[in-house]
Amino acid sequence: MRSKIVAGNWKMNKNLEETEILLNELAAKLPDTQAEVMVAPTFVNLTGAVRALESSVIEVIAQNMHFAESGAYTGEISADMLLNIDIDTVILGHSERRAYFGETDEILAKKVATALNKDMRVMFCFGEELNDRKSENHFKVVESQLKNALFSLDGSAWKNIILAYEPVWAIGTGETASPEQAQEMHAFIRKTITEAYDANIADNVSILYGGSVKPANAQDIFGKPDVDGGLIGGASLVADDFVAIISAF
Ligand code: 13P
Repeated sequence: MRSKIVAGNWKMNKNLEETEILLNELAAKLPDTQAEVMVAPTFVNLTGAVRALESSVIEVIAQNMHFAESGAYTGEISADMLLNIDIDTVILGHSERRAYFGETDEILAKKVATALNKDMRVMFCFGEELNDRKSENHFKVVESQLKNALFSLDGSAWKNIILAYEPVWAIGTGETASPEQAQEMHAFIRKTITEAYDANIADNVSILYGGSVKPANAQDIFGKPDVDGGLIGGASLVADDFVAIISAF
């Protein structure tokens, strides 16, 4: 059975004090939910976040990692470093990493392989740009992003994969994919995985939607049968908004 997940991607926001305040508020206000709740603060605040949430069900995850085991990669963070501070889930392939830091499908395939070899869970992000949707290439783009980074994996690896479909045109723009657009793409993703692997793998992978999810639209989006939760940016930085989105399940 696939799990329901609501994850907050804090991106490059919140200093140490702000991180502590937000985490305490979230832990105190967390509603009863069947969803797994995750937050991804910045690297410098991960250790503190893990400590602050020790007695909470909220899981701390990382926004990125490098594919190499260790070595001369100035500014980078390895899988072992994350595992060492009790973080075993990592976001990979976010469109901001692809657009601003040159992360290609090839690099992402290496990162995914490293994380899975370390028994980490990967939250793999992908999604088309506005031009792709306007030219009706969105399905093709999504299919190739999945194929290039994930479809060489053994079927058994998929138990540690979470997918996050984030159409680039909906990220931080206030423009959300309609619930119908999200459902259409999520169903297409499951069909593509069924063709590459089998229906069992496709049915059991959690597929999150990301892109301007807010308290006002979360319920409609999460209500769609192939949407298993959300990856939330801006609204995850405000405790009441994030809590309201979690409550939308
Ligand atoms: P927003 O919710 O701010 O649009 O960001 C979505 C996102 O990029 C989450 O990873």
